[in-house]
Amino acid sequence: MADRIQKLLQQKPDANSITVKGWVRTRRDTGSFSFLEINDGSCLSNLQVIVDGSLSNYEEEVTKLSAGCSVVVTGVLQDSPAKGQTVELHAATVTVLGWADPETYPLQKKRHTLEFLRSISHLRPRTNALGAVTRVRSRLTIAVNRFFQERDFIQVHTPIITTSDCEGAGEMFQVSAAGEKKDAPFFGSPAGLTVSGQLQAEVYALALGNVYTFGPTFRAENSNTSRHLAEFWMIEPEMAFCDLACNMELATDLLKFVLQDVLENCTEDLALCNKFIEKGLLQKLQDVVDKDFVHLTYSAAVEELQKVNDDFEYPVEWGIDLQSEHERYLTEKVYKCPVIVTDYPASIKPFYMRVSDDGKTVAAMDILVPGIGEIVGGSQREERLDVLEKRMNDAGIDTKEYDWYLDLRRYGTVPHAGFGLGFERLVQFATGMSNIREVIPFPRTPGFAPC
Ligand code: 4AD
Ligand code: MG
Repeated sequence: MADRIQKLLQQKPDANSITVKGWVRTRRDTGSFSFLEINDGSCLSNLQVIVDGSLSNYEEEVTKLSAGCSVVVTGVLQDSPAKGQTVELHAATVTVLGWADPETYPLQKKRHTLEFLRSISHLRPRTNALGAVTRVRSRLTIAVNRFFQERDFIQVHTPIITTSDCEGAGEMFQVSAAGEKKDAPFFGSPAGLTVSGQLQAEVYALALGNVYTFGPTFRAENSNTSRHLAEFWMIEPEMAFCDLACNMELATDLLKFVLQDVLENCTEDLALCNKFIEKGLLQKLQDVVDKDFVHLTYSAAVEELQKVNDDFEYPVEWGIDLQSEHERYLTEKVYKCPVIVTDYPASIKPFYMRVSDDGKTVAAMDILVPGIGEIVGGSQREERLDVLEKRMNDAGIDTKEYDWYLDLRRYGTVPHAGFGLGFERLVQFATGMSNIREVIPFPRTPGFAPC
């Protein structure tokens, strides 16, 4: 394996020959030298390579290198006199692996808009911004797994193909075999892509205690917004012997933990985001780590929102589902920090949420953050068989199809709770990207799924 630039930039110069493999970002010639900026994706920084005109392929090849060409360089690391870098590579050999015709290569030195980059999703990870986002996303994945590992949660891989519609919103993509007959479905009954791994995570929580699932989920909702994807990843912990309070505590700790982790481990990439993507990003993230979240019931949120009802496209009254404009008003204007809204009306929430003693609300919680709105949705689950059956009947759900789910309440039922953290919304929040299409490698939205 070649040496990675991220490591090399932290090394002291020595006389050993090293090998670097990467892509040319720029070339500049002065006198009898060429200066190449090479990037290999391991970090934001490029490595400066100095190529002496005496190299055998200097005229033929080195002076023809342009952005996007792939090269292998061997040489020796030396102290760099240039500002902002500690070492530079003095090349002994430069081998060109692949050319990139400057007439047609779309990524020239000028800054491109994120919209344009979306139209070339196969090339955009080669840019500074998308490279940074991709590394932060990767680090967040590691941080999520570390968080649960440190707390002895067991990871469960819930299915992608399922026959249950967890959210009951009728937003499932259907799955069928090519040429399948309607009366003889491949799986025996109609199946779809999962909208959430929660119901299956509950099965495992009621056997293993504390579990989490972290996988792709799919929703055929026709919302072309900057916060919705048709395919997105979700982190869903589920805990036995846990109520709403313990659920909120875990969600708060998780958000603080993963943001703290990227603040420590993605300093260079987040500094870029802070400069070019969202001014004040680092302070925003540090505040979330350091400060308490506001807790508020749905009823109190409605009262707060009604004070400025005229400002909203959708006026607020008790019983409505909060819209993004309401969520953002609370977290951005009123409290200026993450807000946990609890105790939503039962009528607007799915069947599995635990009905409270007032009979009108459920033990639900959403976490709202500035710039995004809802980032977490969760609840304590209905563990009482009779209440759950009634809720399902009221919602028009065939209880026979969910007999397995009801069995969890028939045999050794316990209070339990969990939530879903939208992973792309988390990456959006951490990087300051205003459009969710920028934080997933290959976004899928209505009318759009290239590659
Ligand atoms: O609030 P939601 O729909 O909750 C559930 O699916 C529960 N079954 C989770 C659970 O309790 N285990 O979705 C959870 C989160 C949202 O808060 C949001 O962050 C994200 O998933 N989300 C989306 N992200 C991107 N695109 C979409 N279309 C999303 N829909 C939800
Ligand atoms: Mg929700």
